[in-house]
Amino acid sequence: MRETIPPHGGELLNLFAPAEARADLLDRAAGLPALTLNERELSDLEMLAIGAFSPLRGFLGAADYQSVVATMHLANGLPWSIPITLSASQEQADALKEGQEVALRDTAGQIVAILTLEEKYGYDARHEAQQVYRTTEEAHPGVRALYAQGPVLLGGPVTVLRRPGRQQFPQYRLDPADSRRVFVEKGWKRVVGFQTRNPVHRAHEYIQKCALEVGDGLFLHPLVGETKDDDIPADVRMRCYEVLLEGYYPRERVVLGVLPAAMRYAGPREAIFHALVRKNYGCTHFIVGRDHAGVGNYYGTYDAQHIFDEFTPDELGITPLFFEHAFNCRVCGCMASTKTCPHGKEHHVFLSGTKVREMLRAGEVPPVEFTRPEVARVLIDSLRG
Ligand code: ADX
Repeated sequence: MRETIPPHGGELLNLFAPAEARADLLDRAAGLPALTLNERELSDLEMLAIGAFSPLRGFLGAADYQSVVATMHLANGLPWSIPITLSASQEQADALKEGQEVALRDTAGQIVAILTLEEKYGYDARHEAQQVYRTTEEAHPGVRALYAQGPVLLGGPVTVLRRPGRQQFPQYRLDPADSRRVFVEKGWKRVVGFQTRNPVHRAHEYIQKCALEVGDGLFLHPLVGETKDDDIPADVRMRCYEVLLEGYYPRERVVLGVLPAAMRYAGPREAIFHALVRKNYGCTHFIVGRDHAGVGNYYGTYDAQHIFDEFTPDELGITPLFFEHAFNCRVCGCMASTKTCPHGKEHHVFLSGTKVREMLRAGEVPPVEFTRPEVARVLIDSLRG
């Protein structure tokens, strides 16, 4: 049976070394100069390894980097909105020669991959910040991570020897090849992907279920890589999804899997990136709601939707599903948005994230119009330790 959608660039990559070559490569890697990756780079390496970043075969070289930063396309013309790079200090870079192999280690010191260093090049972090994050302010978590990088970027293909990352949630680890297979088995043609980094609330549920009304299946795909410190940890968020699915979703129409990527908070550019990655997982449609992947007030509420106008539908392949800011209206007696509800704001249940957190910390259950009680219970228990 046919797959739902071709991967980005046409081929789903698998950058793991063949099993029979691994032991020899690990031996060889032990004798190579080594570089230790941080959490975010390890997430990127894992995403590369499993083909979630197809067509990327490694960390970007200079031509691709400049093209992605300036035009949101790779040098070959394919859309790609977030630079996937590996940085090094000047001293580390000086010790390496182009053409050489470099062992990549995880934070525990284990060798996880070999990089064939094709290029080392300098870059302008402020320029990247302005282009990718639309701000040069260090208060922005993505910009802060960018400014913390070394001044030289190392580009080249990777061969992955061990799966990097923490490998939490084994039962929800579906690599792109796995999710593609599951969707084929289920006979789904229109698969809607949902990105999230927050605990699930009623507005999320509403837009997911609206999408489920028009699609064949829903791929709930919480991001479990690095997030900022005040975001709710991934294990708590996953528990929230478990209790919600148990009570309120048709199980056979929903697949829950984790996305091992790190969060960048790049708003509009990250929405494009999130969509392309979900295409690699086999989704044909992708939900983009209010302030997707945003942080603070850096982006307009619908900037992450408007950016899709800068691409042709064909070059993206995956179709975005846009949703207005959803809320519960006490007069309508249901979830709605300004597209479907004629009543004034005073009738809408709206709670800020800060307010909800205060309530939960105090052990108070937020209104059912905002959060399902089962989800609130998980959050209260986690916050009160
Ligand atoms: S995100 O950083 O992953 O985008 P979050 O987990 O809060 O954060 O959002 C997941 C998805 O739901 C995003 O597409 C976001 O735009 C959408 N979303 C969140 N809250 C609302 C809401 N109240 N109305 C409409 N869409 C929303």
